[in-house]
Amino acid sequence: MNTLDLAMDRNNRIAPPKRRTRQAAILWIAVLAQALGSLSLAHAQSQDKALVAHRGASAYAPEHTLAAYRLAVEQGADFVEQDLGVTRDGELVCLHDDTLERTTNVRELFPGRFVEEEINGRMRQRWRVRDLTLAEIKRLDAGSWFGEAFAGAQVPTWQEAIDLIRGDAGLYPELKSPADYEAIGIDMPGLIIDTLRQNGLHTAGADPDTPVILQSFDASSLRRLGDELPTLPRVFLFGARDPDLLITDARLREIATFATGIGPAKAIVTAQPDLIERAHALGLTVTPYTFRSSATGRFDSVADEMRYFLFTLGVDALFTDNPDQFPRRP
Ligand code: G3P
Ligand code: CA
Repeated sequence: MNTLDLAMDRNNRIAPPKRRTRQAAILWIAVLAQALGSLSLAHAQSQDKALVAHRGASAYAPEHTLAAYRLAVEQGADFVEQDLGVTRDGELVCLHDDTLERTTNVRELFPGRFVEEEINGRMRQRWRVRDLTLAEIKRLDAGSWFGEAFAGAQVPTWQEAIDLIRGDAGLYPELKSPADYEAIGIDMPGLIIDTLRQNGLHTAGADPDTPVILQSFDASSLRRLGDELPTLPRVFLFGARDPDLLITDARLREIATFATGIGPAKAIVTAQPDLIERAHALGLTVTPYTFRSSATGRFDSVADEMRYFLFTLGVDALFTDNPDQFPRRP
């Protein structure tokens, strides 16, 4: 018996042979398993998994600098992520934190421009992006904290990021703290919509070389973006400390009313692997974060960890600090 004995039935399904001895049946099962295995492997290999460079190639260059974005493109990123904040004069800039002191020399250049905030019971000095103008932020060194080779790197505007990446990879902007900006009269979603329109990137497929996916932890911002830019994909993020860590079907159905995908912390997927299948059943993509060589858990390497999430668990894409380690095949 060989694979030629496998006939196709009227519905184009693989049908068993008509005469079946015990030995033939065992052989048939083995061949079928092999055939299904090949089909499943071929299916997995044919799926395009998307590589999102988290804050750029941030394992190798200072996060959210043009150097990190350029390296991400060189390492083959499908998308380069930008976390966005808004300056005092209303410019969108790329920075993960709401404040500047972790990744720049703002303390030295603007020693008196902090506000005091209580964090975990202690008063801290914080230099907020929203309190400095773009011209002031452009004076900051956003590279030295990472390494002297990057001394003098600037905080990029979102427009500078678009100009650098466009044509070579997609854009994956995240609205950081939009509710805080709204509270002081800054319309962050509106600024992002305007920028996308000005660049002709406000509809899916407008520039096939530069797809855009929007992301936020803030549901109401994603709703607004969905109303105004309905063809762009929107990913709703949630973190490992999310009080609703258990993502029920009811919650997924609610998310599907304003988003096209979910972006869970990878710990959530590990704790609840059926989340992927349940999200897919509702048409939601799954893009967990963050995969980095410095924290691979039980895996020997970040490549192994990403391979498991992509091809065993079946996520659609993922955020990684190490774009060069992204496995394209199982
Ligand atoms: O946006 C996905 C992931 O980047 C969320 O975490 O804190 O790095 O922005 P964070
Ligand atoms: Ca982010």
